[in-house]
Amino acid sequence: MTSCCPHPSVSESTGKFFSKRSKSYARSFRKGKLEKIQQYLIDEICKESLEGKTILDIGSGVGKLHLSLLRRGASFATGVDMSESMIDHAKAFAQKFGIENKTVYHLGDFMVKTDSLADADITLLDKVVCCYEDLEGLVSTSADKTKFLYALTFPADNFLMKFWFKTEIVVAKLFRADFRPYWHQWERIEQLLNEKGFSLVGSTSTIIWHAALYKKNN
Ligand SMILES: C[S@@+](CC[C@H](N)C(=O)[O-])C[C@H]1O[C@@H](n2cnc3c(N)ncnc32)[C@H](O)[C@@H]1O
Repeated sequence: MTSCCPHPSVSESTGKFFSKRSKSYARSFRKGKLEKIQQYLIDEICKESLEGKTILDIGSGVGKLHLSLLRRGASFATGVDMSESMIDHAKAFAQKFGIENKTVYHLGDFMVKTDSLADADITLLDKVVCCYEDLEGLVSTSADKTKFLYALTFPADNFLMKFWFKTEIVVAKLFRADFRPYWHQWERIEQLLNEKGFSLVGSTSTIIWHAALYKKNN
């Protein structure tokens, strides 16, 4: 017997959760605000020539990172997000900046969409790995699609953040919330990227987030 009210998939629940928050992401981008770790990644990536470079922004949100890089000379960006509203805001920003012809957006889980997505020179995952259960799959699959630079941010590995995340996870489970964050073994990211032929070229931390940039070995 089929249920009349099937449970939404994790991807739909995550999308719904972030759609409710998309306005505040858009508001901060409208004010021209980038977080310290986002600005760090932009500055580090811009040390390389962006001319002719394509971007794959996974969990692209309202487009803060890929739109900033397009405005600095990158040639094309693909944004993928589970949240429809995040994508709508990103499209509106691209239009406002007059660069909508340099963008394409896909709604859904990157891991499901991956076969239909082209490889890119630069891959971005900004505060995404902590929203997704399969860290190994997400990092390995996205690294396989990356030709040059791989940039990501994730929670700083300290007591405060671990306590905060673990508490959020317990509360989310207790109240059967639509969305729960994930605390992973963050050191696995570097191991996976090294196995895929990437080396760390720069990193920085705040008390909340860690940002890292990797370059593909020649
Ligand atoms: C914390 S928000 C960050 C948004 C944006 N990167 C930023 O920092 O402004 C995480 C976003 O990742 C998306 N997301 C998480 N896992 C994803 C996946 N596997 N595929 C596509 N989008 C994903 C969520 O829908 C959400 O919009």
